[in-house]
Amino acid sequence: MFYSQKHLLQIEGLHPPEIGYLLDLAESYVLLNRSGKAQRDLLRGRTLINLFFEDSTRTRTSFELAGKRLGADVINMSVSTSSVNKGETLLDTAATLNAMHCDLLVVRHGQSGAPRLLAEKVDASVINAGDGTHEHPTQALLDALTIKRRKGRIAGLTVAICGDIAHSRVARSNIHLLATLGAHVRVVGPPTLVPPEAALWGTEVFHDMVHALEGADIVMMLRLQRERMSRGPVPSEREYFRFWGLDFKKLAAAKPDALVMHPGPMNRGVEIDSAVADDPRRSVIREQVEMGVAVRMAVLDTLSRGPGRNAI
Ligand code: ASP
Ligand code: CP
Repeated sequence: MFYSQKHLLQIEGLHPPEIGYLLDLAESYVLLNRSGKAQRDLLRGRTLINLFFEDSTRTRTSFELAGKRLGADVINMSVSTSSVNKGETLLDTAATLNAMHCDLLVVRHGQSGAPRLLAEKVDASVINAGDGTHEHPTQALLDALTIKRRKGRIAGLTVAICGDIAHSRVARSNIHLLATLGAHVRVVGPPTLVPPEAALWGTEVFHDMVHALEGADIVMMLRLQRERMSRGPVPSEREYFRFWGLDFKKLAAAKPDALVMHPGPMNRGVEIDSAVADDPRRSVIREQVEMGVAVRMAVLDTLSRGPGRNAI
């Protein structure tokens, strides 16, 4: 089996063996990272450019760490101090980076579809690090790796994705990945934050947290992404927490061994109570971050070998 593509732009359309290939390779990187022997030469002489038009802590840092652990030259382009501020377009910026013979271009952008547009114009392999409300494929892969390592499987699990579904690229990528691997996916949130098309994605739609969490194996919380809301459809943070925020009372509806996840950044007291977020028996939020480095190493490793050369 192969991961047969030059880029990683979205989870939608990937086949189970392709996802399985990336997760298996990431698993080997978890072990390597934990052994402390992660420094390798696989990407020596290759250049990775991180091009982030939106804020990031986890994704940008873990791509940087992943690239360095594999021996690549890593450049973090600071968009806020770049010539984008002088009016240079996205495509001209990409063409400029392309002329420097970059091999891997990691892109985060506020517009859905921006990484795909770049992929059509540059020679490098493009990795989508989050585009608008569209997708965040490496987040879904790291979430899947976290679940698989903890639960031993993904097929047959019930996963409740909670909160601001409408503005979440994390939700979209996770829905595609989890459904492709055979999980039952539920989405829950206020009617204004669950898009009508959610039912068409093969999910069960709920507007009541306790019903949505009943019997769930995984509870995945999402931040209110105010930066993407044109008008505030949510009453107040206090009221939001009362109905949609995860505390131990609501979590009691899920299975006793249900895991709590959050892609980060968290807004404590808005979508999640600190006591739940920090409970090591239930919360795997820090582990998700660790898996992020391994997944990104697996993705860089795979794409650097080129399409069709990634046999399992
Ligand atoms: N960090 C994730 C993203 O960039 C989730 C979030 O920002 O709430 O999509
Ligand atoms: N989960 C995630 O993408 O975090 P950052 O926005 O900090 O990269």
